[in-house]
Amino acid sequence: MANPSKIIEGGVEFSIGRFNGTEMFYDFDKILIYLDAKGKLLFGVDFQIHKDDEEVILKLCNYIVKDVESCKKHGIDPNKNILLTGPVGCGKTSLMKLIQYIVPFQRTYDIIPSRNIVFAFNHIGYKIIEDYGNGGNFCFDDLGIEPIGRHYGQDCNVMGEILVSRYELYLKNKCKTHATTNLNAAELEEKYGNRVRSRMRKMFNLIAFDINTKDKRK
Ligand SMILES: Nc1ncnc2c1ncn2[C@@H]1O[C@H](COP(=O)(O)OP(=O)(O)OP(=O)(O)O)[C@@H](O)[C@H]1O
Ligand SMILES: [Mg+2]
Repeated sequence: MANPSKIIEGGVEFSIGRFNGTEMFYDFDKILIYLDAKGKLLFGVDFQIHKDDEEVILKLCNYIVKDVESCKKHGIDPNKNILLTGPVGCGKTSLMKLIQYIVPFQRTYDIIPSRNIVFAFNHIGYKIIEDYGNGGNFCFDDLGIEPIGRHYGQDCNVMGEILVSRYELYLKNKCKTHATTNLNAAELEEKYGNRVRSRMRKMFNLIAFDINTKDKRK
């Protein structure tokens, strides 16, 4: 394997830590410099790492690089998935996209808007629940605010069903299921019921932006 401590972007080499040939020692300050640069490339020159977001970013980074000790310190279980919560526009979707670049050698996950899955269900039907419930690595974006699915006159809580299926994958230690949401635990329970909520509690690490985090679209 190539040296995982070095990442080249647009001809510039970034170091995100130290690699001794077998083990990788990540350096969070260096990771932030890299993420700032990569974020600008992906999302535009206005992107910057905000001081107030660093705690959330640290947790996400510890998780994604599987730093067991640091995860433990922050109450994160590396075997569970990530549920990233926070107010509208705080940067959830961007971060879930960005952190994958720290670990280019890992299998990635696709970030899919939950509402798109429901639209596909309305069109195609229950096959969609199998497609997203039975495999693959996904980050379900904007979970909880998608409409109820309706296929040939039959209503279905599409993402609720998919989450129940994906809980089984989690139990088998197969496939990643991350999600972002604006909703809190009570609102998620209202949307999906306690059967799903209970599974969500088991399969996700909750990483939360402060509720006062500013909307970066403004
Ligand atoms: N750190 C940042 N610095 C500057 N702009 C940012 C930053 N993070 C995100 N943005 C920009 O702010 C906007 C909102 O970001 P993003 O979509 O990631 O937020 P979100 O939390 O997923 O929002 P929503 O709750 O609506 O899904 C985007 O245009 C994005 O490019
Ligand atoms: Mg989003």
